[in-house]
Amino acid sequence: MSRTKKIRTEKEISKKASFASSRVTPDDATAEAVEKYPSPIRYIDLFCGIGGFRYAAKAAFDNLGIKGKCVFSSDIDKFAQDSYEANFGERPAGDITKIKENEIPDFDLLFGGFPCQAFSICGLQKGFADSTRGTLFFDIARIIKEKQPRAFVLENVKNLASHDNGNTLKTIVGALEDELGYHVDYMLLNALDFGLPQKRERIIIIGSKKKFDMDWSFKIEKKKTLSDVLDKKVDKKYYASDEIVKKRKAMHTATEYPSIWHENKSGNISSYPYSCALRAGASYNYLLVNGERRLTPREMLRIQGFPNDFKIVVSDSQIRKQAGNAVPVDMVAKVIEKFLPLAF
Ligand SMILES: C[S@@+](CC[C@H](N)C(=O)[O-])C[C@H]1O[C@@H](n2cnc3c(N)ncnc32)[C@H](O)[C@@H]1O
Repeated sequence: MSRTKKIRTEKEISKKASFASSRVTPDDATAEAVEKYPSPIRYIDLFCGIGGFRYAAKAAFDNLGIKGKCVFSSDIDKFAQDSYEANFGERPAGDITKIKENEIPDFDLLFGGFPCQAFSICGLQKGFADSTRGTLFFDIARIIKEKQPRAFVLENVKNLASHDNGNTLKTIVGALEDELGYHVDYMLLNALDFGLPQKRERIIIIGSKKKFDMDWSFKIEKKKTLSDVLDKKVDKKYYASDEIVKKRKAMHTATEYPSIWHENKSGNISSYPYSCALRAGASYNYLLVNGERRLTPREMLRIQGFPNDFKIVVSDSQIRKQAGNAVPVDMVAKVIEKFLPLAF
């Protein structure tokens, strides 16, 4: 596949008429899965945060009748480790840059939502090590090179495509294809198209040792609305001050109820029957439910597709950050479910 291909938009995706994967019964799926996949499929969860990929993988494995086992996870953040441990019973390893690739157990599948960083592409380059060293993608690449997994699914922000005039994405795809020998495809996807009430656009990069042709159109049967994820009764502490509410309401009138009001960088207010992208470091009041209150941590987690039994064991400010950093579970679950049959 060419690495100069353009990022396609979700509009282009929706133009694709067909939904390729036909429905199979769980029994069919299990019988097929026994032959096709290693049992269990061993995977690693890099930059694991609070386990968005892990929930997504579980949902996809269940639908495909596959057994999965997480054999390694890593996140540098102590509070993310606390949340992950409370929910999955394993404490992730820390800074991935300090972990030698041969210390990681063998695995079949790699997941990673890695931070986007600039690559140095000036000067004479001899390969990915030259152009990506010192970035967290380099750590993904060196682990793939050593461990040779069957496939990987990576996630990054929309801006990765335009970052450094497209050179960052080009370097990443080039390293995965030309140097590591994988077949690679990628797509810009929006959580809103996967039944979550959040506009969150993310680039998903998939790769496999096997040649594949991914159909990026998805049929979503059940869409969650804001009413499905918002709590009926909310503690007073989440309400903005009278002054802020008054100011917001003087500037904007919503046409939908419930709605989430979004304040952009220039201070303009707009409202939608879904949330704008949750962000880890955003100001406290940039999203207000009905122009009046902040989202609770539980609501934020639901907007990202995390289950209600996800245990919150850190402070409000830490869980807000963690929810803002997470991958939309329902979106990645659909990608994994469609991709695995092509990759194995
Ligand atoms: C975009 S978030 C990924 C969130 C995750 N996909 C989820 O669903 O929660 C990136 C994560 O990378 C972690 N991180 C940053 N630098 C790291 C490093 N050197 N080693 C391991 N993890 C790192 C951050 O702490 C953060 O949790």
